Amino acid sequence: MISEFKNSEWTVVTSSKELKKTPIRVFFHDVPVVLFRGENHLCALKDQCPHRGAPLSMGQVCNDSIVCPYHGWKFNGAGEHLEMPGNPCFSKTKQDIVQSYEVAEEAGLIWLRLKSDCVSRRYIPQIHSNYSFYTVTTSIKADIIDISENFLDALHTHFVHSGIIRSRNKRRHNCAVTITNVKDGYQATYIEENQQSGIISQLFGKHIYKSVGRIRFPGIIEIEYYSSKGIELSTVIYVNKEQGDKCKLIVRNYLKKQRIPFFMLVSVLFPFQYLAFKQDKLILEELHKSNKEDLLYKPIITQYDVMRPYIEKALRNEICDVKVQHNLML
Ligand code: FES
Ligand SMILES: [Fe+2]
Repeated sequence: MISEFKNSEWTVVTSSKELKKTPIRVFFHDVPVVLFRGENHLCALKDQCPHRGAPLSMGQVCNDSIVCPYHGWKFNGAGEHLEMPGNPCFSKTKQDIVQSYEVAEEAGLIWLRLKSDCVSRRYIPQIHSNYSFYTVTTSIKADIIDISENFLDALHTHFVHSGIIRSRNKRRHNCAVTITNVKDGYQATYIEENQQSGIISQLFGKHIYKSVGRIRFPGIIEIEYYSSKGIELSTVIYVNKEQGDKCKLIVRNYLKKQRIPFFMLVSVLFPFQYLAFKQDKLILEELHKSNKEDLLYKPIITQYDVMRPYIEKALRNEICDVKVQHNLML
């Protein structure tokens, strides 16, 4: 069951470029939703025709309405029943018989929430306007907690991403990690004695002295790399739980505007990021499969899994004051 509270939070379900003229299916907290661009409005309805359950996302858009692909019932963006082909007595009763959602398009992202009077914000990082960015979407079949932790966990990088982010065989160095709360989540600040040993920091991080990993309710991960001039590179991942055990990830990378053309920076960075992402996906999906088969399995959370307890709290929107320090060998 999803709480009303979570439903009233704006959630990123896809990027704007994924929604063209034809309707698409997305998920809002496990529920399939059809998104379509009407003539005047962006519309979001439950992706299940109330007649026999056909996916409306297979239907056709007609002005500001969508026509079911099975028997042609037509619904507007408010979910009101407008047409029922074959019924000569049909009258438009203006009853909304399909669940509709509040939908917004901002910063190249599409956000949904259940219609609500609650004030909730759409989280876009402040650096948004001063940086160039590119967005990719992908999915992983794994638990949202494990996915979120993976992006905030430094200790797997030596093994899973050896050579790309850190190296398995190089001597480790001391790193001070401080965990603090932020307005709607928690963050870990890493101050490393030495530069990260992988190729990404060789290419982009020669002057990086600090990195920050953050989680925000209802499922936003941020990783930032700082030089003395501020953020050099930042990744924001909107994690959206889809049906079953699948999560959709809308990943946005922000790069500081530089003299080197943006497309050149991206063409160097993207292949490494893509490879690192494939490595994460593989390990996460494998552990998810094996854990699902073992009903008695319980993970061991050690003091070195520094963000895990806070990830669990953040996903429940339990934000409390915290300031703790750890030392890790990275
Ligand atoms: S299933 Fe949609 S009109 Fe019949
Ligand atoms: Fe990783």
